[in-house]
Amino acid sequence: MKNYRIAAIPGDGIGSEVIAAGVEALNACAARDGFVIDFDHFDWGSERYKKTGAFMPANGLDLIRKHDAILFGSAGAPDVPDHITLWGLRLAICQPFDQYANVRPTRILPGISSPLRNVSGPELDWVIVRENSEGEYAGVGGRVHRGLPEEVATDVSMFTRAGVQRVMRFAFGLARSRPRKLLTVVTKSNAQRHAMVMWDEIAAEVAAEFPDVTWDKMLVDAMTMRMTLKPETIDTIVATNLHADILSDLAAAFAGSLGIAPTANLNPERTFPSMFEPIHGSAFDIMGKGIANPVGTFWSSVMMLEFLGETNAAARLMRAIERVTADKSLHTPDLGGKAKTTDVTRAVCEALAGDNG
Ligand code: IPM
Ligand code: MG
Repeated sequence: MKNYRIAAIPGDGIGSEVIAAGVEALNACAARDGFVIDFDHFDWGSERYKKTGAFMPANGLDLIRKHDAILFGSAGAPDVPDHITLWGLRLAICQPFDQYANVRPTRILPGISSPLRNVSGPELDWVIVRENSEGEYAGVGGRVHRGLPEEVATDVSMFTRAGVQRVMRFAFGLARSRPRKLLTVVTKSNAQRHAMVMWDEIAAEVAAEFPDVTWDKMLVDAMTMRMTLKPETIDTIVATNLHADILSDLAAAFAGSLGIAPTANLNPERTFPSMFEPIHGSAFDIMGKGIANPVGTFWSSVMMLEFLGETNAAARLMRAIERVTADKSLHTPDLGGKAKTTDVTRAVCEALAGDNG
């Protein structure tokens, strides 16, 4: 029997509630499809930081380096500055593990309505590929003369040929694997005349390796309009770390709720484990109330199963999610319903057990 080792890192806020739900659903998948998942749980997060000064132990990466994948909840607490949390935990895993391709699918699931008036479902089916290792999140910069009138601060966007090339190849490859074979390269090369011009040039070079993929280029500001007004003209999108961060929140809102949106931080070469997480964040305002939407974690778990090669289990879990979202009595408050995390989780596990596809 196949056996996977998954590192579960619930993190902060509602992270522990949604990860518990995810573990339950994944165990139900494993039981249904005849494999075993061993979960190792890690208490890394803001509580640990407040007590010990570090989000994870010094040898933290070594503790999870050999795992098949990482299931991550969220990072962020009201009394810890966000940039400390981000760099202390999430980026402290993504960057050394070279998870350079961040994949964010968006679809309108059954039973969920988009705030876009003319979108009922099939018009909006996108995958955003976010460059996840450099660009605006490279961490290059500094501050001098702190607090003085002459204070200076810089955040430098770093783009490398190797970094752009690999994310372009990944995005073109992903676009090719989807029925429409359509890729939009998001840029801002009108204003940012160095790195973004290189980004465009490399996109055109890589495009030549994928003659069967139709592609176009779009300035990021115009892209927000196209996503809103002509969503059906878009399929796969590739964008820089910051541009895709912004566009993916817009995409999640169009899909009905941030509580549903999944993401995968992939190291496509599999030199290091990849990390799967819901996009929603720690949501401290609803923490401990048992009403967090676990669908973002379930959908992220689908992506994890696909990456592990458990395609039947992945498809089955996705069908279970869609059966459950179709039933409005199983919507959590972010979707306007009254269901609890445990109601949704139980229903997904039941749907899994009863799925004979
Ligand atoms: C995301 C989030 C993070 C990001 C935040 C929490 C720092 O918004 O995953 O999109 O900007 O990367
Ligand atoms: Mg974001």
